[in-house]
Amino acid sequence: MDDVIIARALHVLAVVIWIGGVAVVAMVVLPALRRGDLGSNRLQVFEAIERRFAWHARIATVIVGLTGFYMTQRLDLWDRFRSGEFWWMHAMVCVWLLFTLLLFVAEPLVLHRRFHARALAAPDAAFAWLQRAHWLLLALSLITVLGAVAGSQGLSLP
Ligand code: HEM
Repeated sequence: MDDVIIARALHVLAVVIWIGGVAVVAMVVLPALRRGDLGSNRLQVFEAIERRFAWHARIATVIVGLTGFYMTQRLDLWDRFRSGEFWWMHAMVCVWLLFTLLLFVAEPLVLHRRFHARALAAPDAAFAWLQRAHWLLLALSLITVLGAVAGSQGLSLP
């Protein structure tokens, strides 16, 4: 079962890089940008940070998905998706799907352009919206992490 142990280690490592990055953006970068602590050109700074982080997040998302489905197949855990008791398995797949769509489809095709235009027209409102969106994604991710760690150790969660 060494392969499953390695898959689990890579799964958690990629989750840490990805969700940790979302936490830094939501808790540190966006509040600092909104207060003007990182200079007056908020849009330029945000896009420079986001351009770099998006690739880390994309690679991490792929690793999380591959290792997650690998473990599900190797341990034959598909039945869990039929039971509400394993809500955290559903949550992992939902969070993964949401970010995959955001990072690979919505952001490059629509969101980037739309946010750029909104931030030029009404920067305060655009950055306030962006921060709310990041907090929502972070909250969903953290609930999923808590559920997955506790649930995979056998704790029965509501
Ligand atoms: C395609 C999506 C995913 C699949 C198929 C998947 C699958 C799995 C599986 C099978 C396990 C092992 C469960 C067990 O040992 O009982 C696991 C563990 C875990 N997953 Fe996922 N996962 C996915 C996405 C995610 C996401 C998006 C996160 C974080 C937001 C996440 C966080 C975790 C954590 C923290 C563990 C527990 C590791 C441990 O404590 O040993 N997973 N995942």
